Amino acid sequence: MQDHLTRRGFVRAAAAGSAALTWLGARRAPTVFAAEAGKPALLGGTPVHQGGWPGWPEWRESWEPKIVDVLRSGRWSSSSGGGHVAEFEAAYAKLHGAKRCVTTASGTTALLTALHVMGVDAGDEVIVSPYTFIATYNVCLMHKALPVFADTDPATFTMDPASIESRITDRTRAVLPVHIYGIPCDMDPINAIAKKRGLAVVEDACQAWLGEYKGSKCGTLGDLGCFSFQNSKHIPSGEGGAVTGNSDELLDRCQAYHNCGRSSGTFKGSGSFSRGTNYRMTHYQAALLLQQIDKLVTETERRRENGDYLTAGLKEIPGVEPVRLPENSRAVWHLYAFRYNPSEFNGLTRDQFRKALNAEGIPARGGYHEQYNDGLIDEAINSRGFQRLFSAERLKAYRDSFQELKGNRQVCETMVGLFNTVLLADRSDMDHILEAIRKIHAHSAALVA
Ligand SMILES: Cc1ncc(COP(=O)(O)O)c(C=O)c1O
Repeated sequence: MQDHLTRRGFVRAAAAGSAALTWLGARRAPTVFAAEAGKPALLGGTPVHQGGWPGWPEWRESWEPKIVDVLRSGRWSSSSGGGHVAEFEAAYAKLHGAKRCVTTASGTTALLTALHVMGVDAGDEVIVSPYTFIATYNVCLMHKALPVFADTDPATFTMDPASIESRITDRTRAVLPVHIYGIPCDMDPINAIAKKRGLAVVEDACQAWLGEYKGSKCGTLGDLGCFSFQNSKHIPSGEGGAVTGNSDELLDRCQAYHNCGRSSGTFKGSGSFSRGTNYRMTHYQAALLLQQIDKLVTETERRRENGDYLTAGLKEIPGVEPVRLPENSRAVWHLYAFRYNPSEFNGLTRDQFRKALNAEGIPARGGYHEQYNDGLIDEAINSRGFQRLFSAERLKAYRDSFQELKGNRQVCETMVGLFNTVLLADRSDMDHILEAIRKIHAHSAALVA
């Protein structure tokens, strides 16, 4: 049976965003690239990129028999162990160089499991990356712990290790760095602080399948690592997640917790059951995931090659700054992200820049905003539970501390991203992206007017 892809639709850009911020001030007068003198599409010119971009998710006909086999077997749940779920857990652990893996129903439930196993409890505090999907905040809140935000390093988009220590209190139990967009955090200093202060490290690797830091994979750098296989992810199963790690003791606990608290391996709990819940993956999900491992490996390489190419090209254009990766690390680009400086584009705002890029056929989008100001945190800390667990002084100081997240604000206001499927396109398509940015740069004065 011939493999073929289902969707190759145009990826539409999300256009929402806030006013742009200058992070470096005007460094030099905008440079005009003569080669890109063609009129911008927004002003009636011809778009640089015509045609589509790869769509997502993709499926192949060759995957169907395994899914149908699960259907016909009647063995859909993984509650009794074995089957595709166990097979995928072994394969995924091997792929990441981890000793073990426990699959879960989602990335959120992987994080909930890992935090529980690392002992995060009601009234604790967890040091968290603020620049992340909202689930990272919520998993702390669901354990009735405060997500205390470290600042984001504007150059790397990840947790600034220098901002961690000042936020540690006698309630701090764990650090939760996020390898956002598949950009590895600088884990050495994070682990060193955690070790010195007796804190657990749970990696949110929900966007970082196969990300690498100093020869090891994301998800194996702390005590436990958490992954998501949600629909948009590089290895999707609709919903799904995993916890990885190298300690049998911790992974036995994860297995028990996500399986209704049933004893597992060396972990007996207090009798047959300990506190736990049902966060199990189904065999359908695992059958889908097992068949995507090779695809993930091949596509990760392609995203990297195209990402490196874009990074080299962007460095030549004033006003767009690629992400700085930690030494000896490799990102996997769930979004290819860079920072935009309007002062190099005659004051063209980030929104206008994105609109101009979209008009050129390049689907550009903004990233996360300052979600801690949105109301979720206020709702939580005003709840009866949090008010019982924390003093009014602590909650006020905690809420006030959001103003100190200057690096994070800068990233929220300047980030521009390209969805990962764009990086699965051809090298000539990467040239279109760079050409479109150079064109907008050359015509920025006209676009502002
Ligand atoms: C950084 C991050 N953390 C956590 C999650 C939660 O994963 P899930 O949606 O599978 O529950 C996601 C998913 O988008 C994520 O991107």
